[in-house]
Amino acid sequence: MEGKQRDNWSSRIGFIFAAAGSAVGLGNIWRFPYLAAENGGSAFIFIYLLFVLGIGLNVMIAEFAIGRRTQLAAVGAYKKLDKRFTFAGVIGVLSAFLIMGFYPVVGGWSVAYIVKSFTGLLSDQALIADAFGGFITSSYEPLLWMLLYMAINIYIVAKGVTSGIEKAGKILMPTLLVLFIFVAIRSVTLDGAFEGLKFLFKPDFSKVTGETFLAALGQQFFSLSLGMGCMITYGSYISKKEALPKNALIITLIDTSVAILASIAIIPALFAFGLEVNQGPGLVFIVVPQIFAGMGALGPIISAIFFIALAIAALTSSISLLEVVVAYLIDERKMKRKNAVAVTGLVMTVMSVLSSLSLGAFPSLKLFGVAVFDFFDIITDKIFLAIGGLLIALFVGWFMKKEDMKDELTNGGTLEFGLFNVWYTLIKYVVPVAIALVAIFGIIAIEQ
Ligand code: PHE
Repeated sequence: MEGKQRDNWSSRIGFIFAAAGSAVGLGNIWRFPYLAAENGGSAFIFIYLLFVLGIGLNVMIAEFAIGRRTQLAAVGAYKKLDKRFTFAGVIGVLSAFLIMGFYPVVGGWSVAYIVKSFTGLLSDQALIADAFGGFITSSYEPLLWMLLYMAINIYIVAKGVTSGIEKAGKILMPTLLVLFIFVAIRSVTLDGAFEGLKFLFKPDFSKVTGETFLAALGQQFFSLSLGMGCMITYGSYISKKEALPKNALIITLIDTSVAILASIAIIPALFAFGLEVNQGPGLVFIVVPQIFAGMGALGPIISAIFFIALAIAALTSSISLLEVVVAYLIDERKMKRKNAVAVTGLVMTVMSVLSSLSLGAFPSLKLFGVAVFDFFDIITDKIFLAIGGLLIALFVGWFMKKEDMKDELTNGGTLEFGLFNVWYTLIKYVVPVAIALVAIFGIIAIEQ
């Protein structure tokens, strides 16, 4: 591979923002709070944190190592190391397509809500929930927003790794963090927010079932962008001088903090307004405008700021999903970046059109008995990502040489990685067994 011009992150901070940008997304802000709310608040958060430390962080280290070692995106990386595992990379590319079959729809909602914040959405608190339902089930309006959202994705990824993805991350990620802290402060200072904080931080283990574990497992893979080759791809652009375990830890900490922060921003407000905890996917889109309705002229501005932050978070994630497929087409099919982006973008757009319409305008758009939108969502985080995570752990633990992994994680012996053996034991034994157990008990719980 030496001598071939490969696009790389130009700086450490650029890489961290890009990878954290991929991780921090709708998963953290849109999905995590409603999962936590539905699954016993902090009991869910507790299980989630356990999985992040025991599984996600270690899988991320493994993905970075595989990507950087091979200098290739997911499919090529597996193929180069062991041809029998090529299918694991292919599953990853497929997962990217499937996630991009619904993610841009929610990305489009976020963009729409920036504008809607100013056009009367906040004027009547009682109508906010209905407005959301009406919006997402209508036919062409959400489609237009989704198309706009996709166009921005295509534009950024077409520009390439350093001048597109890295630059976007560097500007957008810090903006997101600042905006977000602001919203969280506003939410916890609402009257009655304290009940919500109690709900969030006092665990209720009676709500925990096999399904809770399955949801937490899928969520941590999804949120950390793992189990589908994304971090392998981003790892392939990391400089040989970087310490992979340390960077993985930083990215994991950022991602987890944003998820918790999002819950602190959203769940106390639910209680302050006396809303049902089980709002599902509508949670952010219903609660946040409610927080800011009734704040006078300032309300629309702050609400818009929040949805700008949400759209930014979504964008830095979906560009990474698009990049997984594009990098595959460039590495393996020798396509030009621009053509690869065009083809991939088109297919993802068509999938997103179908899933958006499945929410109401064309309710007959179903796969296996659920709306196409939900199908793409469920099949990725509950099935594909867990399988992808299992495969990478098995691959690294049982098919790669231990010395090769040590070599990659210590940059050829020039760096300390004192916990190497701990990491190795986790990847080889604990991660596969944990995923298998959670999958089995989760499936049993769903059957019941
Ligand atoms: N991590 C992103 C989020 O939380 C979603 C994502 C999943 C991105 C997998 C890339 C790969 O929204």
